[in-house]
Amino acid sequence: MTDHIITEARDHVQRIELNRPEKKNAITVAMYEAMAAALERAGVDPAVRVVLIHGQPGVFTSGNDLVDFLNAPPAGTEGPVFRFLTRISQLEKPVVAAVTGAAVGIGTTMLLHCDYVVAGEGAKFSVPFVNLGLCPEGSSSLLLPLAVGRLRAAELLLFGEAIGAAQACDWGLVNRVVADAEAIAQALARAHALAAKPPAALRTSKSLLKRRLAPLVAQTMHDEGVSFAALLDSPEAKEALSAFLDKRRPDFSHF
Ligand code: COA
Repeated sequence: MTDHIITEARDHVQRIELNRPEKKNAITVAMYEAMAAALERAGVDPAVRVVLIHGQPGVFTSGNDLVDFLNAPPAGTEGPVFRFLTRISQLEKPVVAAVTGAAVGIGTTMLLHCDYVVAGEGAKFSVPFVNLGLCPEGSSSLLLPLAVGRLRAAELLLFGEAIGAAQACDWGLVNRVVADAEAIAQALARAHALAAKPPAALRTSKSLLKRRLAPLVAQTMHDEGVSFAALLDSPEAKEALSAFLDKRRPDFSHF
């Protein structure tokens, strides 16, 4: 159990709120477990028609907790991180996200499995896996090029630099940019709009949108998980992660 994830099912919408703002909603093992369980419940609960993922104004998520990466690294294709990614990628019901503030790493890759994404004007999107000595996860090496084009995906994944909300919208990573203070309310309104639709038609339509790609998504996620776990154990990643904890610049010159 963790109070860093708040879940609430109301009016056919299952809300999943990341609630660790003092660490910019960095996601711990316990938080992945709670999110995977909430998605699992949402999948089978007939009262839930839509899932909404959000943080607080100014904070979406800074991605995987980097202390956990050192102390409790994900084990390849097992464990809570992978379970969360599998659940979100396979959920039959639509997932809406409200991005407020930074969406780092899995904060951006989870959006590739969402069906509608609202961003606040101040939102920032980055996938800095390479800078951490790591590689793409969450099937982002497949889905990001499909979403934004190969060269833009390469730019995002190889440089690891953040792009703003307007550019993310222009590139097709988000549906809509609104005032920061409005993002969560607007996403909730869109979730309610979906929840008012005929549920079987909604689920079937989502399924048809994703069905052809699903085996490739699963295979890519698995392959990435294996490489990611191997890289996490590498001297490059250890240098990058300890540099973050020591609040210094990493030095890759001797690799
Ligand atoms: N894991 C663990 N702790 C994290 C974290 C993460 N991913 N992201 C932020 N934090 C912690 C910081 O260490 C800091 O802790 P402290 O107050 O005890 O020093 C606190 O959260 C606030 O972060 P800070 O960096 O001061 O906020 P900011 O607004 O200046 O910057 C980010 C926000 C998200 C841009 C920045 O924190 C960042 O780059 N974090 C790392 C993101 C990352 O690499 N994620 C992994 C991707 S795979």
